[in-house]
Amino acid sequence: MKTAITEMFGIRHPIIQGGMHFVGLAELASAVSNAGGLGIITGLTQRTPELLAREITRCREMTDQPFGVNLTFLPAFSAPPYPEYIAAIREGGVKIVETAGRNPEQYMPALKAAGIKVIHKCTSVRHSLKAERIGCDAVSVDGFECGGHPGEDDVPNMILLPRAAEELTIPFVASGGMADGRSLVAALAMGAAGMNMGTRFIATKEAPVHDNVKQALVAATELDTRLVMRALRNTERVLRNASVDRVLEIEREKGGALKIEDIRDHVAGAYAKVMREGDLDACVWSCGMVAGLIHDVPTVKELIDRIMDEAERLIRVRLTGFLDDAGPAKPTKAA
Ligand SMILES: Cc1cc2nc3c(=O)[nH]c(=O)nc-3n(C[C@H](O)[C@H](O)[C@H](O)COP(=O)(O)O)c2cc1C
Repeated sequence: MKTAITEMFGIRHPIIQGGMHFVGLAELASAVSNAGGLGIITGLTQRTPELLAREITRCREMTDQPFGVNLTFLPAFSAPPYPEYIAAIREGGVKIVETAGRNPEQYMPALKAAGIKVIHKCTSVRHSLKAERIGCDAVSVDGFECGGHPGEDDVPNMILLPRAAEELTIPFVASGGMADGRSLVAALAMGAAGMNMGTRFIATKEAPVHDNVKQALVAATELDTRLVMRALRNTERVLRNASVDRVLEIEREKGGALKIEDIRDHVAGAYAKVMREGDLDACVWSCGMVAGLIHDVPTVKELIDRIMDEAERLIRVRLTGFLDDAGPAKPTKAA
């Protein structure tokens, strides 16, 4: 399939694996890139720029296809040494960066000078337009249903994507709630040039996380996520667990007076325990509503091939079958 995104990034399929803390390691990123999508290493999971440089080298040993690095810009008081991380990306020869979190404006000159294509992930039309203005090459438009940080506007993709299409000139991918060929075709119909998936890629054989995490996603339904940290305007969509219940209890008690210190033990620091050791209650961890559409743990290649086959069938058979000149009505169930 050919879209503005496959052309821009030199990939076979318009499918991106979004940066994920303690999940986006070389194993997953290389598997996605080898399967024709765009794999992304999560920069800040590597505690130092030197470790990121090593992870990039490891990924390059596992794939000769393009892959990217995610740089999540955190609030200024906890800022890691971003210029050094960017140097590691540049020196590692990586040509694609997914930025997220705060506005990447101050780092754009360094990224552009290194010939890096920047896809900025954001949750609103106004932030997408800002990304376009500061020179980003593409946007990943993250709807309210997404795992991780959906922002504070609560606009789901059914509205957000066509609104982005109305306003943006640069290409964008749909992010949040994407799982299969239906997601991809719907995203394309709403004006996107591809899709970005997070949660779905965790439940794959190559995702370097404990099997408990994968099985929890298979078992979860679309009703099992919760929003935490609303009062801090740092909303995160997470899979419900004992830590989440405790955070929600504290949030109810504290109301508008909530401070990060009140919940810090539950929201920070234990990601590795969840992802590596499979201790599912160790802290709150990001998960999208799309868990309801995850029923198995395929290899990344099986997943991507299945998505592309389903998308092609939907377009060629189901959708064209609805046209007036297409002959007798085809079965209405998704092909
Ligand atoms: C476990 C997990 C960790 C994530 N960590 C990050 C991160 O560190 N930086 C980032 O930009 N996005 C992060 N995300 C968001 C994803 O890149 C992606 O935008 C999101 O998962 C899309 O929604 P979906 O889960 O419905 O596919 C994370 C998502 C998950 C599920």
